[in-house]
Amino acid sequence: MVKFMILKVSKSSVLSGDVYISGSKNAAMPCICAALLTKQKVILKNVPDIMDVNNLLTIIKKQGVRVKKKDDIVIIQAKRLKTRVLSDLVETLRGSYYLMGSILSRKNKLKIKYPGGCNIGSRPIDYHLKAFQELGFNVIEEENKIVIREMTRTSKDITFPKISLGATINVLLLSSTFLKEVKITNPSLEPEVLCLIDMLKKMGVSIDILDKQIIIKGARKLKGITHSIIYDRIEAGSYIYLAGAIQKSKVCIHNAPIEHLQTVIMVARKMGIIVYKKDNILVVEGNKGIKKINLLIGEYPFFPTDLQQIITVVLTKAKSSSTIEDPIFPNRILHLKELKKMNAFIYEQNQVIHIKPCILSPGIIYATDLRCAFALIVAGAITQGTTYIKNIDYLFRGYEEPIKKLRYIGVNVEIL
Ligand code: EPU
Repeated sequence: MVKFMILKVSKSSVLSGDVYISGSKNAAMPCICAALLTKQKVILKNVPDIMDVNNLLTIIKKQGVRVKKKDDIVIIQAKRLKTRVLSDLVETLRGSYYLMGSILSRKNKLKIKYPGGCNIGSRPIDYHLKAFQELGFNVIEEENKIVIREMTRTSKDITFPKISLGATINVLLLSSTFLKEVKITNPSLEPEVLCLIDMLKKMGVSIDILDKQIIIKGARKLKGITHSIIYDRIEAGSYIYLAGAIQKSKVCIHNAPIEHLQTVIMVARKMGIIVYKKDNILVVEGNKGIKKINLLIGEYPFFPTDLQQIITVVLTKAKSSSTIEDPIFPNRILHLKELKKMNAFIYEQNQVIHIKPCILSPGIIYATDLRCAFALIVAGAITQGTTYIKNIDYLFRGYEEPIKKLRYIGVNVEIL
């Protein structure tokens, strides 16, 4: 990715108005890959217009797949599906690894570049590759590629040592054409996984969810269907904390998947942010003084790791010290260095982030990944003066029309 855009952010006084949440990035990518499981036409609705999704669509077009896109609707028809996925774009996003599950499900071989993704610490794919092996595929890791070949499809119980969204999705995609039962023990059951499961069921796959287990019985031929992507809970959470960070603000968040945001709303309220539902709209009112918290991040339904960086910024305004522990991505801490440049009194010790009360000063800082980019915008918006954020390009990977949405509610942002 070319990184050269700079965002100028000035202190924003009071935020008000409406924000419309888009479709979920992390649900759209597996659903796009699931569309490759059938030769028939698949219509996806509520697909966000973001860089990661657009790059994934470009990759599948290179695989011989027909793709039509108009507004939030994407029509995919994979009559042809090439098995060598060697576009450089594969290395620019994480979601490209779902092509492994879907291509292997339909074909008996695959050569693919390693997936990329945000720089948030170590992101191994050993659970994915081990599961492919257990399901009867031979996996060879080359310098920058993975070569996988079917030996004998074997239905098995795949047990993950730690909950993994990506590995759960890849096993679901691969097992969708297995005629005998595959079980996943200790799967991820995040809303994004459930969105994919709904889609696979409509395509003809039988899937049961038991306590900490998913049981999949695939079908030889999957059907073309229409499916709507769920709304993005992380985008909604980002705007909740942005609006909540600025006193006297009142922002109405439309399309927020409120049922997926219970912990996010509960934590916001504990921090002194006023959040309530009015006619299916989430209304966020700025705080009357941010309160400290000690937060442990976890898999859904716990507080999501993807909002850690944003909440870290908001907690600099609390009257006493807070801590955040993120066992999912403990090294998602590059934003701390940038916030220190703004005089934040913040540090990481034994994988716990400590945030002391402080008044941020404007500076020239760098976005290091998608959520860091949004977090630094929040930092700029609550800081007296003008902050310059370099490498803001990351923001466009996962937020649809961020500049328009931010300006609409009164955040002073300008791309230079
Ligand atoms: N893990 C392994 N081996 C594996 C896979 C995962 O050790 O083979 C570990 C990871 O290191 C991590 C934990 O398991 O400690 C969970 O990782 P998971 O596989 O759930 O994460 P992911 O699939 O790589 C997705 C999202 C992330 C989001 C995480 C957690 C996509 C494309 N990415 O990543 O989204 O933070 O799940 O919910 O869906 C973002 O949107 O900004 C983002 C980074």
